[in-house]
Amino acid sequence: MKSTIRPFHPEDLDALKRLTVESFKGVTLEQNVEHCLGVLNGHDWRWRKARHIADDATANPSGIFVAESDGQIIGYISTLIDRDAGKGRIPNLAVDGAARGEGLGRRLIEHALDYFRREGLAYAIIETMAQNEIGQHLYPSCGFVEVARQVHFARKL
Ligand SMILES: CC(C)(COP(=O)(O)OP(=O)(O)OC[C@H]1O[C@@H](n2cnc3c(N)ncnc32)[C@H](O)[C@@H]1OP(=O)(O)O)[C@@H](O)C(=O)NCCC(=O)NCCS
Repeated sequence: MKSTIRPFHPEDLDALKRLTVESFKGVTLEQNVEHCLGVLNGHDWRWRKARHIADDATANPSGIFVAESDGQIIGYISTLIDRDAGKGRIPNLAVDGAARGEGLGRRLIEHALDYFRREGLAYAIIETMAQNEIGQHLYPSCGFVEVARQVHFARKL
């Protein structure tokens, strides 16, 4: 599938939220929490996960890049910058199920890394869930080295 990567526009947000919710099924901490504790505060995991990309768009809209094919949004990557630390972070990345396995995820990562370099940053970080086999394959193959594993806990109040 031929695709181009362009900067984010605010009117993309609803489409990015939809893509996020569709893409992250099975690979998001928010769903793990719901699996263990049930629906919380009247909101399911999709509601919470969709807010992540909205938060990214508020924090650093010029660091979100959108992949399009035939005018349809088929992927995106979001980034955050900590300029004092020289750190770029990739909090969210998604490619539509029908467009996966063709190198678009890798292209989006390379696009974000080029953006970080242009911004003069020193290093980049990205996280993935232990259950996310694709992330654990893709990120090392894009030059990231594993630096830590974290264990998440949650309880009802
Ligand atoms: C992660 C994601 C963005 C990758 O998008 P993509 O366009 O398919 O990525 P690419 O085609 O560039 O690369 C996918 C790589 O994973 C590999 N892969 C696919 N299925 C795999 C599996 N089950 N286990 C391990 N590796 C796998 C592919 O072979 C490819 O590697 P290669 O280039 O060395 O052959 C996409 O799978 C996605 O949206 N997943 C759901 C959301 C998500 O997990 N986001 C990241 C959160 S950390």
